[in-house]
Amino acid sequence: MALTTFEAPTPTAMRRCMGRLIAGVCVVTADDAESGSCGMTISSMTSISLDPAILLVSLTHGSRTTDTVDKAGRFAVSILSARQEAIARRFATRGGARFEGLDCDTGDNGLPLIKDAGADRM
Ligand SMILES: Cc1cc2nc3c(=O)[nH]c(=O)nc-3n(C[C@H](O)[C@H](O)[C@H](O)COP(=O)(O)O)c2cc1C
Repeated sequence: MALTTFEAPTPTAMRRCMGRLIAGVCVVTADDAESGSCGMTISSMTSISLDPAILLVSLTHGSRTTDTVDKAGRFAVSILSARQEAIARRFATRGGARFEGLDCDTGDNGLPLIKDAGADRM
């Protein structure tokens, strides 16, 4: 069977297109002794199973948060509410001091959670 070839969309076209997809926005947080607390904005979270509770998140290579999740083997998720766009931007901006001046809650596993998030405990 012959495979059909097609021209892949440019990154700009891909971004414009995917920007129209309505998705929940979350912050994944993690920590370890070396890196301290870190976190990043994601929209790639999907619920896989209720029992056992399984979530799927897609975290990019080369991100500090991804490296910390890999090392620590655990993470927390705060599902942002519609009023928390500034938090989403803060946790997506490279190089920014993400927790500076931010009053966080602490989850049962000791990881930081975004205060007033739509949902944060699982
Ligand atoms: C709305 C939105 C959704 C995003 N979703 C993801 C995602 O699902 N996975 C991912 O790896 N990065 C995602 N990003 C990009 C990261 O937030 C961004 O690359 C961040 O700077 C990575 O942080 P770090 O490298 O300091 O850990 C998203 C950004 C925005 C604004």
